[in-house]
Amino acid sequence: MITTNPFSILAETVPPILMQWFVITMAILVIVGTLVDIIHKKNVKYFFENAKKAKLSATKTLNTTERISVISKTIVSDIATTSELGVGQRRAAHLLGMYGTIIFWIGSVIMIFCYVDPSSNTPSVWPMVWHMGAIMTVLGGSWFWFFLRVDVYSEAQPWYRIIKADLFVLALIASSLFGLIWSFLQSLNLSDRWDDKVFLVFYIVSNLVLFGGVYWSKFAHMFYKPGAAIQKNLAEADGSRDNLPPPADAPEQFGPGIKREEPKHY
Ligand code: HEM
Repeated sequence: MITTNPFSILAETVPPILMQWFVITMAILVIVGTLVDIIHKKNVKYFFENAKKAKLSATKTLNTTERISVISKTIVSDIATTSELGVGQRRAAHLLGMYGTIIFWIGSVIMIFCYVDPSSNTPSVWPMVWHMGAIMTVLGGSWFWFFLRVDVYSEAQPWYRIIKADLFVLALIASSLFGLIWSFLQSLNLSDRWDDKVFLVFYIVSNLVLFGGVYWSKFAHMFYKPGAAIQKNLAEADGSRDNLPPPADAPEQFGPGIKREEPKHY
């Protein structure tokens, strides 16, 4: 199963062009969902107005080399390793899910657009990337959802309580999990059995929810967060600090209380 391209088996019954159009439609849904979200929340408008206002209090003008250096450091640290999440389980779970999702999506696109024809020979690296990505996403997403969600971790809510904010993480886990189960059942070659078809339908529906639900879910954070991190670090480097006061010129003395227990009352 792990070295088999599930889409090329599917192509024996479903025209490849249909799969390719499905992927293109999902990409369009992401773009439309994000644009509608931007128009509705006016967050990008606020972001640029705020950045313009902050620039007025800059104490230093950054030259191109300095800007490139700040942006590169942000990409390597804040974005690629999601340093905002600090050290610990939250960051580890996020990295597992984030890189899992990225390689799962890359694997899907490569296999659907380059090797979907049943007569073509898919290099085994791509099905492996796809299956590994799906497993990582399920593990990272479930770790987050079952154990690290703020309302479960800090507010003692039961793990099975589902709210709208869970739409993104649950759709993400569902699409990878159903994809894995579908690929497994299909690899058993049960010909006239219905099981793999049922999971193919679940896989399609969960993708429609994931990509069609961008406006209602946290999907777009993967675009907003990098932008905000770059702006924050540029504002720190040019001294404007987003119009926030500078750090106090005094030692951080908070008493022993702050060290007594892990901060988790958000
Ligand atoms: C493919 C890319 C990404 C995926 C699949 C992904 C996935 C997720 C998921 C599933 C959550 C939990 C959402 C929830 O609260 O229910 C999350 C939260 C978060 N993500 Fe991402 N993410 C991605 C990219 C990024 C990037 C690039 C950044 C930062 C630069 C980022 C920063 C965060 C932060 C700060 C949280 C909040 C974590 C928490 O509440 O503990 N993410 N992400």
